[in-house]
Amino acid sequence: MPEITLHVNGREHRLDVPDRMLLTDALRGRLGLTGTHGGCEHGVCGACTVLLDDRPVRACLILAVQADGHRIRTIESVAPSEESLHPVQEAMRDCHGLQCGFCTPGIVMSLVALHEQDVRPDAAEIGEALSGHLCRCTGYRNITAAAHRALGCPAPAATPAAETARPDTDDAHEGAGR
Ligand code: FES
Ligand code: FES
Repeated sequence: MPEITLHVNGREHRLDVPDRMLLTDALRGRLGLTGTHGGCEHGVCGACTVLLDDRPVRACLILAVQADGHRIRTIESVAPSEESLHPVQEAMRDCHGLQCGFCTPGIVMSLVALHEQDVRPDAAEIGEALSGHLCRCTGYRNITAAAHRALGCPAPAATPAAETARPDTDDAHEGAGR
């Protein structure tokens, strides 16, 4: 079993991992970082997105051994303290950009990567960043509004919480790509 070194959220971890262990499973099962979610496990839903050397990647498409020596950041590293949130997290909360929250950590990680770039993205770039994320609850309207707010891009208005699409509405079904 190979020994690898993962630099996760500013801490170094030495792990013995099976050759075929996914990075998702190493983060969740070995390091207890369960904020990184495993959904489809074949690169479609984006729930497992983490930052690898500051770039968003799908942890279900990377073997733990391939991350050997690399810097990884997960959702657990994003908030600056127990009492405060990252601007992306604040925008997701304020714009009601989540319901069950399963997709949320992955979306936040993709938007954090964009937030850290020294440019103000336009709507197309935000759409591109969100395009790899599936949400089965919200219909994407409020997620998009949150992204625009966090990234300083003129945005479509968020939908008030009471009007947010429910899973059984047409809006939600469209958003889920069904
Ligand atoms: S669990 Fe990785 S993309 Fe869906
Ligand atoms: S908030 Fe439930 S899957 Fe996105």
